[in-house]
Amino acid sequence: MKSNILITGGLGYIGSHLYIALAKKGLSPVIVDDLSRSHLNVLRNLEKIINNKVFFYKAKVQEKKKIASIIEKHSIDSVFHLAGFKSIEESTKHPLEYYDNNINTTLSLLDTIKGSNCNKIIFSSSASVYGETSSKPVKETDKLRPLNTYAQTKVICEKIIENMCGLNQSIKFANLRYFNPAGAHESGIIGEHAKEISNNLFPVITNLAKKSGHELSIYGSDYDTPDGTPIRDYIHVMDLVEGHIKALNYISENKKSITINLGTGKGISVLEVINSYNQFAETKLNYVFKERRPGDAECCFADTSLANELINWSAKRNLEQIWNSIFKWNREYPNGYD
Ligand SMILES: NC(=O)c1ccc[n+]([C@@H]2O[C@H](COP(=O)([O-])OP(=O)(O)OC[C@H]3O[C@@H](n4cnc5c(N)ncnc54)[C@H](O)[C@@H]3O)[C@@H](O)[C@H]2O)c1
Repeated sequence: MKSNILITGGLGYIGSHLYIALAKKGLSPVIVDDLSRSHLNVLRNLEKIINNKVFFYKAKVQEKKKIASIIEKHSIDSVFHLAGFKSIEESTKHPLEYYDNNINTTLSLLDTIKGSNCNKIIFSSSASVYGETSSKPVKETDKLRPLNTYAQTKVICEKIIENMCGLNQSIKFANLRYFNPAGAHESGIIGEHAKEISNNLFPVITNLAKKSGHELSIYGSDYDTPDGTPIRDYIHVMDLVEGHIKALNYISENKKSITINLGTGKGISVLEVINSYNQFAETKLNYVFKERRPGDAECCFADTSLANELINWSAKRNLEQIWNSIFKWNREYPNGYD
């Protein structure tokens, strides 16, 4: 694959891992990030891993002139659009900020690329678009019933991309519905570093385990699941980013757009994740059951058959490999980058 790639939000959790996977394929993507949710140490560590310089621009995706000149200068033909805010909880407290940032980055980017030679866009969507679904597992054709503002922003962006590429057939898209990314790169020097407090289960567990006497809150013990706790589909971040590269190959070679799930296809409950941590760390975490949180789905795991069939991709890594990589990352950076 020969592509000149731009990654928006490339210093974030998933973007930095995607960068490494692309660099491993001999590519030199360009990163744009405004550092609103990331840290410059990520840039230094990416350079350590690839032993080379990374093209990085500190900019907001909404700065159209700046982005247009980056696209032109680097002859960008494909963009991975990851920049955005991602906390469900924060989105319910600050909905307008979420609509503003997540939708305007997408609108601005589409407006910028339409006048350029960039004709492929790969968008970070989310399994949260399905919301409360009775399908187990969930398929791409299932009805979207977003339960919170963050998920709404993803549904809206998917629709805008689909509509705009439908009207301008020269641009192809891949809307990638991520399930629950977890884990870190094998180097141990990049991982899930959140500037804001992370609500993702794995960092919540490891952060809590560092403090003695604290209890993990499990929101809901009466869901209609085997142990009563919610079920999700946890995917190793390196599997997830490998799926991005296959998706780009697919839309480049077939000149077709796609919307696909990127998950493992396996549902795991919150209690099962805690038990796997206890086993792995040879410990026993304290937890307490609390009321269900509004906006949380009961059970959501992926039907991955479309991704298998179209892009010839499936997740390879297991829960133990996720914990292994997180432990390595936590040994290197016990307090994140700060
Ligand atoms: N991590 C998850 O659990 C998850 C799940 C599903 C979907 N996603 C989506 O994947 C994408 C990447 O997620 P992540 O976990 O890497 O998040 P992250 O917060 O680590 O990374 C996002 C990056 O985008 C940057 N950014 C935000 N707004 C920007 C703007 N206007 N201009 C330029 N840069 C901007 C931030 O500084 C950050 O580096 C997001 O769109 C997120 O919604 C993430």
